[in-house]
Amino acid sequence: MNRFFRRKSLDQMARDCVEPERQLKRALGPVQLTLFGVGAVVGAGIFSTIGAAAAGGAGHPGAGPAIILSFVLSAVACAFAGLCYAEFASMVPVSGSAYTYSYATLGELIAWIIGWDLILEYAVGNVAVAISWSGYFQELLRGLGLHWPLWLGVDLRSALQAARQVAAAHAAGTDLATLDATLRAAAQALADAPRVAGVPLVFNLPAFGIVMVLTWVLVQGIRESAWFNSTMVLVKLVILGFFLAVGACYVKPEHWSPFAPHGWAGITSAAAIIFFAYIGFDAVSTAAEETRRPQRDVPIGILASLAVCTVIYIAVAAVLTGMTRWDRLDTAEPLATAFSELGLNWATRVVSIGALVATTSVLFVFQLGQPRIFFSMARDGLLPAWAARVHPRHRTPYVTTILTGVLVAGFAGVTNINEVVELCNIGTLFAFVLVAAGIVVLRRLEPDRPRPFRTPLVPWVPLAAILTCGGLMAELPRVTWIRFVLWLGIGLLIYFPYGSRHSRLGKADAGNPT
Ligand code: ALA
Repeated sequence: MNRFFRRKSLDQMARDCVEPERQLKRALGPVQLTLFGVGAVVGAGIFSTIGAAAAGGAGHPGAGPAIILSFVLSAVACAFAGLCYAEFASMVPVSGSAYTYSYATLGELIAWIIGWDLILEYAVGNVAVAISWSGYFQELLRGLGLHWPLWLGVDLRSALQAARQVAAAHAAGTDLATLDATLRAAAQALADAPRVAGVPLVFNLPAFGIVMVLTWVLVQGIRESAWFNSTMVLVKLVILGFFLAVGACYVKPEHWSPFAPHGWAGITSAAAIIFFAYIGFDAVSTAAEETRRPQRDVPIGILASLAVCTVIYIAVAAVLTGMTRWDRLDTAEPLATAFSELGLNWATRVVSIGALVATTSVLFVFQLGQPRIFFSMARDGLLPAWAARVHPRHRTPYVTTILTGVLVAGFAGVTNINEVVELCNIGTLFAFVLVAAGIVVLRRLEPDRPRPFRTPLVPWVPLAAILTCGGLMAELPRVTWIRFVLWLGIGLLIYFPYGSRHSRLGKADAGNPT
């Protein structure tokens, strides 16, 4: 068989997880997994991205109140993909998510591509969430009357862009007071920044700091981590409940008209952006190796967390667009904006704290998922072996956890959020498409393999997943596609000289197991 299409047998995967040096601790049950899924899902998407998706901007029309339908569309695509993930997760209950599944079905090259692609979902997605966290953190400090230095709260690129826009406005004789406050603050950051050899020191320190703190927690161990996560998930659900209860009293039905100001185009393009709000339910599958009864609990965790989030999102979208006109929602904190426009400052503050907690728990789950994918790739020899080391005392994949932490924190300190959300979406949608294709392939290749959870109506459900996720990908802008293709190209440049030669499976095939 061509070496690029060699497949790792499911039995081999099961054996890998019992090697004592490379074994993770099984501590999670179904409720913790569902909370883990909700922890991964409800975050920057519902607290931030919903505003831009409803109001439009940066080359895409807004959905208006019909953002409710955008949420439904995205949820349908996720549900089809979720049913495919659930079959795989129950059949291949090992760490590594879509990467592992595709290694068993579509072969090593595609597995590498997916593993590499998942970095866009987990690590790049987390860069976006960390930047959003930092925004709310600074907002809250301002609300408490505390001053955070501007040059330590924004990335250099945004500061330079803002400074250019302010300079252009100045040259055109525009009244600077009419410019957006965030833009003026970013430009001021550049002016305030200390300089080393002429280079301004502008850095998003809160975004960097929160990722490093969570990395430390994760190295300490999965049981402590699950407890920490469950607490945060409960807090954010209570705060969203608060938003719904108080917000519902201020809904004016006339705000829902016109319902879809940009018609179907607005609804579908918003669906491709708001998809970000759903990303994460699949992260449940990355914890399969740390679950007590993965065959039963992982599918429950995936589908239950998706269902809970869909109901919450539709309710929040309906209340939000009923409270405020849709075209006023394009702010970094639309849920808080809806309250502040009504003069309810106490409620604004409560919602801001909720956003902070929500984004923290998303960061947490993604920081947990990414190292486990690196870990699986290293265990298979596609990445260097030192990355697969498990901490002798905590039994966590500490090398990859720290590596992920440093990379995500570093990029979060220097990147702009808008650039990363769409890249994260396209990468995730692509992984969903490949997982769905994998279900159809494996039903043919290994029809008798026990499947504790079976995706219903194969091949129709996987085909529907491919069509709906592919359709959302098609809604994303050209520049995102170019970045995505470049990213996959870089991955291949690593795989051919390194991964394909060091693959454990390849060595075993050659009669030289290591
Ligand atoms: N779904 C995650 C969020 O909204 C990525 O923050």
